Amino acid sequence: QEGDATAGATVFKKCATCHIVDSDTNKVGPSLNGLFGRKAGTHPDFAYSASMKEAGDGGLVWDEATLRDYLHNPRVKVKGTKMAFVGLKDDQEITNLIAYLKQYSK
Ligand code: HEM
Repeated sequence: QEGDATAGATVFKKCATCHIVDSDTNKVGPSLNGLFGRKAGTHPDFAYSASMKEAGDGGLVWDEATLRDYLHNPRVKVKGTKMAFVGLKDDQEITNLIAYLKQYSK
């Protein structure tokens, strides 16, 4: 099913305390601007956990599939991540969120 970016903007409110997507600024979490195609743990000037950097070095690149897995259960996808977020259970919510985030990746 297609993602609804407008609905995804509402879902993003769950992320926005920690993440900015419309600019390169880091908050508690790294900027999600230009996320798609990016190697995990590589946004400049952000202090990632060792786990996230190792995941990237091990080949983790953010795309629809890897992001879906991560958002379902962050601590299972990247064991030891310091992202304090339980995850999203609803698949359609994730689909909509991905459509929203993609607008900020060229
Ligand atoms: C990392 C997405 C919610 C804090 C990440 C990464 C993604 C992501 C894709 C990896 C980025 C990279 O490799 O550059 C999201 C989304 C969220 C969400 C889509 C909402 C559904 C949150 C919340 C917090 C948070 C609510 C704070 C309570 C962090 C932190 C990291 C991170 C600290 C770095 C993790 C590490 O280095 O292990 N997030 N996040 N995130 N996020 Fe989130």
